[in-house]
Order: sequence, then structure tokens, then C-alpha cells
Amino acid sequence: AAGTLRGLAPAGTLIGTAVDPRGLNLDPAYPGVLAAEFNAVTAENAMKWRNLEPSPGVYAWAGGDQIVDLARRNGQAVYGHTLVWHNDVPDWVSPDWPAQRLREVLRRHVTAVVAHYRGRVWAWDVVNEVLAEDGSLRDTLWLRKLGPGYVADAFRWARQADPDARLFVNEYGTEGRTAKADALLDLVRRLRADGVPVDGVGFQGHLDAERPPEDVRGNLRRFAALGVRVAVTELDVRVRLPATAEGLRRQAAVYREVLRACLDVAACASVTVWGFTDARSWIPGYHQGYGAACLFDADFRPKPAHAALLDEL
Ligand code: XIL
Repeated sequence: AAGTLRGLAPAGTLIGTAVDPRGLNLDPAYPGVLAAEFNAVTAENAMKWRNLEPSPGVYAWAGGDQIVDLARRNGQAVYGHTLVWHNDVPDWVSPDWPAQRLREVLRRHVTAVVAHYRGRVWAWDVVNEVLAEDGSLRDTLWLRKLGPGYVADAFRWARQADPDARLFVNEYGTEGRTAKADALLDLVRRLRADGVPVDGVGFQGHLDAERPPEDVRGNLRRFAALGVRVAVTELDVRVRLPATAEGLRRQAAVYREVLRACLDVAACASVTVWGFTDARSWIPGYHQGYGAACLFDADFRPKPAHAALLDEL
């Protein structure tokens, strides 16, 4: 296959990647592949709350700004990730604070971050992973102290801080037609019926080559029918290590299938991979015994999955 992902991407479909500043600054081959292959980026960690506001009111914008500035030079759209995530609350935010104080600190956070990147980020993951496996709202600090209304509040605060950014709810385990996906559909429908400014639904797509989701296309379609955009926001396809030729072939088929699904759904705005090189992927650190989840190997050579995507575009 010849060409690059961004070169072959049809108008209206962004092909993105998560960006890791360590890769940018330490791996000589990283910036070139990033610029050549992708027309959209997401900060893998740099725009998360713990990194942005290490102590109260003290902001560390440098990492996120580096990614945004580079994206501008590369002609890449920036997808903001993420404003409200139970896994990413600074240590200085105390669960013992009264609800009113917690609500105010969350409001300030959402407002400050969205305002800082206003006009430079086309969409935000406003809430990330708010559902439990059974489809109820996940038991988090925010749910316990603020009640279920925190979700709607976060969207309204974000809208106010940047009326032009598209606002997404982002979730995992909802790529196919799972019970959790049914619950997500329900949540988005209810929020929109209440006038909450939810513009899009992100499907993370952290997949296992051996257990691909079923009917991604049909699932994306039923969300699109609600009137929202959809996006694949964090795609990677892990294989058992050591990776075999057969494993990488299955992986390529899963990558291809997900891209095809997005291309077939008009409301699908982007497919973003969660890192493009096995040299920097989060997978081996979080999924024991798995890895080799990306489009390029650890030496930045394209894998069969990359060829499969080019072929599908
Ligand atoms: C992960 C990053 O890839 C890691 O580097 C970090 O240590 C933890 O977070 N779902 C998400 C992402 O929404 O933010 C997570 O990213 C992966 C799972």
C-alpha cells in the first residue's frame, strides 16, 4: 500500500492519534510520522486535570500548549481530552470537602481549561467513563457528592466557556451493541431531551484482537440517529505477547473493521488511535501479557494494520 493515512482520508473524516510529549521530545522518528500520517491529535495525558493544575490555581499549560502549537504547524485538528474523569482528580481536591466547595472547584476547572484552549480545540471529552459496567452512573466522588446532575452541569459549563467546541461524552465498552452501549444511548437521549449541550459520543476502542466488538457500524448508526456526532477516540488493538504473524493479521482486520464502520456512518467525525507506535503504547503497562497494539512497531515501521487502513481509505 502507498500513501499516508491523512493523505487518503476522505474529507469529513479525521484520522488522529494520541500524542505523548515524551515521544515527541525523545524519539527521533516520532515527529515525522506524527506529521505525515495524522490530521488530528489528542493529548494522551497533557490536558488531564492532575497535569494541568498540580496545585490549586497554579496551571501548567506547557505540555498541552506544545501539542496544540505543533498541531497548528502540522495542520492538525485538536481533540480535547478530558475534563471530568474519576481517574484523574488532583490530590489536592479532597473528598471530604462539602459538596458546594467540590462543585465550585469542578466548575472552575472546566471553565479554566476550556477557556484556555478556546478556538484551538474543536471538540472536548467533557465527561469520560461515567458509566459503570451495569450501565448505571459510575460511583465516583462527583456522583456521591454532587449527585447525577454533575454531568449536565459539566456540559453547560463547557458550553459557556467555548460555545464553538463540540462537546462529547466518551466511554469504553460501548463500541459494539453491548448492554453498556444501550445504557449510554439512553443517557445521551435523556441529556439531550433535557436540553444539555451534548454534541457527540466518543467510543474509546481499546480492543482485544481476539474479542472484537460486534456490529460497530450498527451501533454508531443508532447513536447518530439521536442527532449527535460520533467518533472513535482511543483506538488500539492489543494482542497477546509475543505477537505472532497471525495475531497481527487479526489485529489488522479489527483496525480495518472499525475504520470501515466510521467511514460508513456520515456522522462519524474521526478515528483516533491511542498512540501510533508500540514504543510508547500504554497497553503493556496496563494489560499484563498484552502489547503490540499500535499501527507502527517499536522501530516506527508500519505494521499490517497500517497497510489495512490505507487499503480501506
Ligand atoms: C491513559 C494513558 O494512555 C496513560 O499514559 C495514563 O497513564 C493513563 O491514561 N481511557 C482514557 C485515557 O480515557 O485517558 C487513558 O489514557 C486510557 C483509557
